Amino acid sequence: MGREMASAFARWCALSDVTVQPVLTAVADLNPATLAWFDAIPSCTQRTTDYRELLANPLIDVVYVAVPHHLHEKLYLDVLAAGKDLFAEKPFGIDLAAARRILAGVSASGRFVRCSSEMPFFPGAQRAFALAQAGGMGRMLEVVSGFHHSSDLDPDKPANWKRLNATCGEGGALNDLGMHACHLPLRLGWKPTRLFAQLQKGYPTRPDGKGGTTACDTWDNALLHTWTSIAGTEVPLRLEMKRLAPGATNSWFIEILGTDGGVRFSTAEPKTLWIFERGKEQWWKRTELGFGVPFKTVTGGIFEPGFPDVIQQMWAAYLMEREGHLGGRFGCATPEEAVATHEIFAAALTSQQNGTVVGL
Ligand SMILES: NC(=O)c1ccc[n+]([C@@H]2O[C@H](COP(=O)([O-])OP(=O)(O)OC[C@H]3O[C@@H](n4cnc5c(N)ncnc54)[C@H](O)[C@@H]3O)[C@@H](O)[C@H]2O)c1
Repeated sequence: MGREMASAFARWCALSDVTVQPVLTAVADLNPATLAWFDAIPSCTQRTTDYRELLANPLIDVVYVAVPHHLHEKLYLDVLAAGKDLFAEKPFGIDLAAARRILAGVSASGRFVRCSSEMPFFPGAQRAFALAQAGGMGRMLEVVSGFHHSSDLDPDKPANWKRLNATCGEGGALNDLGMHACHLPLRLGWKPTRLFAQLQKGYPTRPDGKGGTTACDTWDNALLHTWTSIAGTEVPLRLEMKRLAPGATNSWFIEILGTDGGVRFSTAEPKTLWIFERGKEQWWKRTELGFGVPFKTVTGGIFEPGFPDVIQQMWAAYLMEREGHLGGRFGCATPEEAVATHEIFAAALTSQQNGTVVGL
């Protein structure tokens, strides 16, 4: 993800109404081959295998941290202690206790901190959010929000740190994909009040990439059947996070349904927005979206956006909000929202363990 973010800065000239110019100055990684990739970025003059050297650099204002989950707490708190602003990766600590300690560190430091979650910056997601905020969908019937991968269907794919509880966290797919599913519902104020979880494990062993096999113990799929309160009414909200979803590569989706209106968007069809309307007849209206991103770009309005575009939009939101220039546009996930996702994940683990509905 570090390289993905660096690429977004490298084509910052695409943004036409952003008054902040990030300069990528330094990178830290344990792997020298990863560091060597940053030779392609002339401004990145400090490359180190010791991130503490980077934190000691007085030229640096903001640090983005993308490391395995068991390292989040230590590195995030070190960034704050060094007096830098932080762009954290999800899940914002390996578990709820870590997330709460990070939040306490954020509050004590007074630094500007947000958490990565780029999918809501897709034009279709922005439209779904705006329609939900505007209301007028009648009596709310249900909300489904999720993120599907098929990354674990191949049993021969070597294990990495995301398949081990020790490094990914007991939450597994919840930690990995949960922020993506929870971000828009939480921003809309739709926090689950109680939930029932169905969690499934993936393959128990995988190749270790060195000729042997290794045990894998994380949850791969999570279905959270929850209740939330929308305008004083209890509404079913289903949160889906899957690493075993046949056919899906990196599909984020949301569906919001009421008796009079609704909206549906999936990144599997990034140009397509479905809007439900009910009159004498019922209609699902299909709109071909263009490049309706929150921060204007040189890209023509008819063209379709993709993952690198929403990553860049998320960074524009982070940097503009940090300068006080968000101007009512969609902001990145807050530390409080990140902790709220962990409260949901912790309740899901309890529900799975006890086979019960858990209140939040
Ligand atoms: N926002 C998204 O869409 C998205 C997508 C993928 C991953 N992520 C998140 O990004 C984070 C990293 O995931 P990834 O897929 O990039 O993992 P990765 O394994 O590809 O990269 C992690 C990097 O951290 C480096 N590293 C490990 N320990 C280090 C240390 N002590 N000091 C410096 N570098 C160290 C590794 O060498 C590696 O290059 C995770 O929190 C993950 O959940 C977010």
